[in-house]
Formats: sequence, structure tokens, C-alpha cells
Amino acid sequence: MMAGRDSTRAVAGGSARHIPVLARQVFDLMLPRDGGVYIDGTFGAGGHSRSILNVSGTRVIGIDRDRNAVAGGFALVEQAAGRLTLIEDRFSNLEHVARGLGHEAVDGILLDLGVSSMQLDEPERGFSFRNDGPLDMRMGGEGPSAADLVNAASERDLSAIIATLGEERFARGVARAIVKARAGQPVATTRQLAEVVSGVVRSHPGELHPATRTFQALRMFVNDELGELAEGLAAAERMLKSGGRLVVISFHSLEDRIVKIFLTGRGRVSAGSRHQPELVHAPPSFSILTRKPLTADDDEVSRNPRARSAKLRAAERTDAAPIAGDLSHLLPHLPALGDAMKGRS
Ligand SMILES: C[S@@+](CC[C@H](N)C(=O)[O-])C[C@H]1O[C@@H](n2cnc3c(N)ncnc32)[C@H](O)[C@@H]1O
Repeated sequence: MMAGRDSTRAVAGGSARHIPVLARQVFDLMLPRDGGVYIDGTFGAGGHSRSILNVSGTRVIGIDRDRNAVAGGFALVEQAAGRLTLIEDRFSNLEHVARGLGHEAVDGILLDLGVSSMQLDEPERGFSFRNDGPLDMRMGGEGPSAADLVNAASERDLSAIIATLGEERFARGVARAIVKARAGQPVATTRQLAEVVSGVVRSHPGELHPATRTFQALRMFVNDELGELAEGLAAAERMLKSGGRLVVISFHSLEDRIVKIFLTGRGRVSAGSRHQPELVHAPPSFSILTRKPLTADDDEVSRNPRARSAKLRAAERTDAAPIAGDLSHLLPHLPALGDAMKGRS
């Protein structure tokens, strides 16, 4: 592990194509301080890590499941002179990562969810319908790709995935069109899929591209983004010290719902419910800092359109024990990736 050599050196500048969203709000809520240890679970281009490192004496563990993001952070690691450690991993594993680096508890954890501009901009990653490329969409490179899924899953599973994660009204029609198209030849590229979807979903000028929702759904499913979020939140609850801060930025209503329900269930003494009986009488493990989610103002949205759908929630860890329990109630009902790949209906 690289530890705090030259801890007074400020880390500034660096060119990042991804503009960090709600940067000031993240900084103000994270309250980085000299000697504090912070986990940036979604390092990306390192925008938020950089501002934490600008406070002298802070240390950051940057995690990203994308090997390119980790490689791209090398210059910042150098600049940070021992205060930044970058690890290629999933943030659901943050506890293991931090303990492996000798930290039993940390002062702050940030999850800035979704994909980065770099991922969207690289056609070969297959995230975007705007550029043609292989239909991949894997952030980490492991497991089945979007093409594997699209060519193997049953019509019923595809429809459920696209309806739930994409909130696509025409999900059944899109699934039917995909199954029809792949009967001829496999759907292998982003352009092929975008054309299939555009045959079913119409959009008017100024509206979202017809394939936006389908691409979002497949990306979230292939990367198990909601499962990662639920596990990441539970790991954060275990790893934050009393007074430590959790900050989560989401870009999708299902993500924000998970964060909200998780924090609400832990942010007060629950009277218990049919759905969360395990929380009865548990002392709150978080005090909620954002009663309503923070959003970007018009100025930020005009500079960075990605910020438009961002919602930030933050909470401070109390000294109560973590509230154990199954978090599956936070997740929508969808087939498991392995089952979907078997093409069962
Ligand atoms: C929105 S970008 C983060 C941008 C970053 N905060 C910045 O300022 O540059 C999301 C990043 O998180 C990574 N990511 C998404 N889900 C992840 C997960 N479960 N574990 C680790 N990294 C993840 C993606 O690969 C991507 O690089």
C-alpha cells in the first residue's frame, strides 16, 4: 500500500474528459479533513478523488471495475505522492479492498453511479448507440456481454429486463423485434441493435433517441448495477466509522429508490413493517443529511448535460451497529443473469 508520503502536497489540475457531477456538493458533504481516509468507489476520471486529495493529509482509495479507468488514474497517483491508491475491483467489494490496505474503518465513501463519458465515447466498449461498435457494455470485461444476452435470453426475459430497467413502454415490442432479428443472424453491434429498436420505438425531434432506454436496461443488467448498489451500501454501512459520511449520486429512478429506502430504513428507529421486520427497534445506523435529494442547478446542467438526472443523497454514520439483513427487498424482480443466458422463458 502507498501511504501518506508528502501529505502536504496539493493535487490539482489534470485533464479529465469526464466532468464530475455535483462536485461542490460532494465535497461539502464529504467534509474531507487532514488524516481522513476516503473511498471513491467509482473512480472514473478521478474528478471527486482529486478534490478530496486537494485537502492536505487526506488519503483516497479509488476503486473502479474498469481497468481503463484505473490505468487512466496513474498520473493522479503520481501527483498524489502516496495518498491515492487505485484498485481495479467492484465497489461491492470495498470492505475487502480497504481491509486489504490496512483500514478497518474509513471517514467517507462516495458512489457516483453509472457510466463515465470515457466509456460512452469509446465505440469498442459498446455502450453507445451513437457510435457503431461491438455490443459489449461490460464495465469490467468479465461475464456475458450485452450481445451474449440479447442473442440468448428468451423474449419474456428480454421484455422484463427492458421494461423494468429501461422503463420502456414498448418493451414487449422491442423484445419481439430482437428475437425476430436474431433469427436471421446474431445481433452483434450497437448499430444493429439501435436499428432494431428504432423499428419499434418512435421518437420526435428533441426527445430521447429511441434506443436510449433499451441500451440503459441492457447495460444495467449485464453489469448487475442494482445488485452492486445494494451490496455497496451494505458494505459502506459496515466500513464507515461513527461520523463518517456516505454520499451517493444516482442517475436512474430505481437507483435513487434503492438509496432512499436503504437510508430511510436505517435513518430512524423503524416501527417495523411487513417488508422489513428485521429492523424493528434497531437503533439508527445513519443520520440522513439530505431530506430530499440534491440536484444540479441550471448552470451546471448547461455546462454538463449529464448532470440533469443526477440525484445526490448523503448520510452520516452513527455509532450504532450495522443493521444486518437481506437486501433483496430493495431490488426489482428480474431473472438472474445466468438464468437469462439459458434462454428459459
Ligand atoms: C459516473 S462514472 C464516475 C466518475 C467519477 N466520479 C469522476 O469524477 O470522474 C462511474 C464509474 O464507476 C465505475 N463503476 C460503475 N459501477 C461500478 C462498480 N460496481 N464497482 C466499481 N466501479 C464501478 C464505472 O466503471 C465508471 O468508471
